[in-house]
Amino acid sequence: MSAEREPVGVIGTGYVGLVTAVGFAELGSDVVCVDIDAEKIARLNRGEIPIYEPGLAELVEKNRERLTFTTDISVALDRARLLFVAVGTPPTYSGDADLSAVHAVVGAMPASDRHALVMKSTVPVGTGEAIKRVFAEQGKSGFRYVSCPEFLKEGTAVSDFLAPDRVVVGDDGDWAGDAVVELYRPLLVPDEGGNGPGQLVRTDIASAEMVKLASNAFLATKISFINEIANVCEETGADVVEVARGMGLDERIGPKFLNAGIGFGGSCFPKDVTALKQLAGNSGYHFQLLNSVIEVNELQKRRVIGKLEKHLGTLIGKRIALLGLAFKPNTDDMREASSLVLSARLQAAGAEVTAFDPIASEIAAPMLRGVTLADDAITAARGADAVVLVTEWQEFRDLDLAELRSVMAGDVLIDGRNALDGDAAASAGLRYEGIGRRA
Ligand code: UGA
Repeated sequence: MSAEREPVGVIGTGYVGLVTAVGFAELGSDVVCVDIDAEKIARLNRGEIPIYEPGLAELVEKNRERLTFTTDISVALDRARLLFVAVGTPPTYSGDADLSAVHAVVGAMPASDRHALVMKSTVPVGTGEAIKRVFAEQGKSGFRYVSCPEFLKEGTAVSDFLAPDRVVVGDDGDWAGDAVVELYRPLLVPDEGGNGPGQLVRTDIASAEMVKLASNAFLATKISFINEIANVCEETGADVVEVARGMGLDERIGPKFLNAGIGFGGSCFPKDVTALKQLAGNSGYHFQLLNSVIEVNELQKRRVIGKLEKHLGTLIGKRIALLGLAFKPNTDDMREASSLVLSARLQAAGAEVTAFDPIASEIAAPMLRGVTLADDAITAARGADAVVLVTEWQEFRDLDLAELRSVMAGDVLIDGRNALDGDAAASAGLRYEGIGRRA
């Protein structure tokens, strides 16, 4: 099989790049991974995986023979026609995406009729056309361009890659788009010649770019919507978990992304919602709905403060333990994590904050000035007036609530993810409060 598979280059070895590289290697391609970070490449060559992602290390190990890690982009250009770009596009102060890493890659490409850039990084709509213009100006108009956005989720990235809902390929209808489709063929539905679940969406470049931004913005909207419903549930005596179940059974709504909580975080939703809002604004359209999605999310991160004050009165001198720091379970990613805003607000209100996260503590430490990090949940909760569940790691779902209560000074348990059993908490002598739950 491997002899027939197209070799690929992947530029950028972050979450998306590494998972894409390993995924294509698993499908049988030889993959050259390129990164400007020499230290990261050295670590990868020693077999160390720079990120925590379930299943990734095992798959790298399994496909070691097919993977090359280098800082030298010419190795990828020599061995592969398709160069997947998976460099960061972080937000700037204006809310627009910072495309400097993308432009650096574009600038490093030689004039060639046999290569194509395949954009995996999330970029504003119009980026592909702009890059094609740059290629034309630089006398590189033979260089092909394909938009192939990535939809993987951190924590399940490897299985998301290998079992995609859809594969979106936006191109000019040339060999490069065909070659990308061929690479993904095994993951596509039988009607498309594969044996996977992926529906193929072959379209133009701008539409492919928009599918990515619109999908993330829609999912973020769904979360802010259910969070507002939760807030109204609290005022009206309804229970958002029951409401979400009732809503989600409507096939048009669906049950996913209806978990109310203390807001969405991560490297994608906050950035992409803002980027889409900016993109619309820059082209003269005021995207009202997205303003609200962002604002609701910011307020949601702070709602726990009001709940704590309701139970404890002033927070000055109170000891609050945070369980979970990462923006979601099964990742060590702290980008835009609700814990960052929450811990800072708690300290500003005069509280003393302790915290524990099963994986993210080390990465979180420099970001959490003044927060005492504990080695386990029970140690974090020892002497606390209140415990707040911030990230719904499985080990917190499995916590012995009677033990938790026995080490605490107070009895307040705020479940910021509606992940715990309220009745069990009450039986353990805890004053339990979720988000949008019936009291
Ligand atoms: C998200 C998308 O789900 C992926 O499809 C996309 O590829 C990715 O962004 C990206 O653009 O790279 P990810 O950021 O890994 O993936 O995380 P999600 O699992 O989507 O969760 C995002 C945030 O929403 C988390 O903070 C989570 O706690 C929160 N969330 C999620 C809720 O508050 N409620 C829900 O019902 C679902």
